[in-house]
Amino acid sequence: MSPSRAAGHSARPPDFSPRDFRAALGMFATGVTIVTARNDQGEPVGLTASSFNSVSLDPPLVLWSLGKAAGSMAVFANGRHYAINVLAADQQALAERFAARGVDRWAGLGFTDGAGDAPLLEGCVATFECFNRSQYTEGDHVIFVGEVERCTRRPNASPLLFHGGRFYTEHPLQGSQADASAPQAPDGRFVGSYLGYLLGQASHAVYRDFENAIAAQGLTHIAWRVLAVLHDAALSHPDHQGSIAVGCLARDVLAKQPTVTKLVQRMAEDGLVELLADPADQRRTLVAATGEGRRIAAALIEQARAQETTLLSRWSPGEADALKRHLQKLANSEPPRSAAARVAVPRGG
Ligand SMILES: Cc1cc2nc3c(=O)[nH]c(=O)nc-3n(C[C@H](O)[C@H](O)[C@H](O)COP(=O)(O)O)c2cc1C
Repeated sequence: MSPSRAAGHSARPPDFSPRDFRAALGMFATGVTIVTARNDQGEPVGLTASSFNSVSLDPPLVLWSLGKAAGSMAVFANGRHYAINVLAADQQALAERFAARGVDRWAGLGFTDGAGDAPLLEGCVATFECFNRSQYTEGDHVIFVGEVERCTRRPNASPLLFHGGRFYTEHPLQGSQADASAPQAPDGRFVGSYLGYLLGQASHAVYRDFENAIAAQGLTHIAWRVLAVLHDAALSHPDHQGSIAVGCLARDVLAKQPTVTKLVQRMAEDGLVELLADPADQRRTLVAATGEGRRIAAALIEQARAQETTLLSRWSPGEADALKRHLQKLANSEPPRSAAARVAVPRGG
């Protein structure tokens, strides 16, 4: 089969440099593959290629293109089979290795044999075992069309991405849509998929160990929150010694004002906070941490941060950041006047 051409027409010469062309192509984000095969001596051969794409569902066809000058050209031009290994987010080093010259690309690599003994690399997110169906020479590359005889995938794995000449190891949807293990309740079960329940469980996981640290300082949970809020207030209003009105404190520690009023009186007796009359309005009471209150807050904050680091140690910085941003968004969202608010729940039903 030969490529069809627009009869009697030819393209205008490019008005851009090769560099511009490369840069524009780089704006197309792709995954990264390693295409593998066996040479005549039965040795494994492979190279990094991002030119992979789908062609047809029926029959199942894919394509990729190989530079004419590539050292592996003869193997792919003449072989009957090759495998396309789609790399996982943690395989950037492999992508670099299989694009480099003068290195042993296969050193220490685990793989199994696919169709035609083409190597299937371990740890990839997908593999396509292809019959070498057709080739089209165009410009300085050869386009290979492969007929897929077998394909596999790891459903929850994140792929390695390539964009603008750089690798990206974090999937933009990681932890949300891309993560098929996200809680779903196909059978209509409520508890394990309800946001409120999940937040409660997550909160329990965060506070499980930290509770002891709070108790060891002789504090209740709300008293700890009071000290933490006063710590932040001192950072935002250093000129007022971080003093804050009881009403604002109550809002920030998520408690009712009379509860907080009583609590800060007790904390003042314990020497953790001081109560000051607001110079602008003598009827208002301001609360500020004492030196002892600040010392305890600083120690607990340090422990909280260390414990958070441990808890999130298996998360990438991007995931942890995204989680916090989502929670902040949720915390600051005004619920729309929903139908739920208007629904009359039958009593005694
Ligand atoms: C991310 C990335 C994508 C690449 N994609 C292709 C490609 O699609 N086709 C190609 O011929 N070379 C591609 N290369 C370059 C080859 O991997 C590189 O030239 C390699 O040395 C060729 O190996 P060979 O000479 O043993 O055939 C890519 C390199 C990188 C880093």
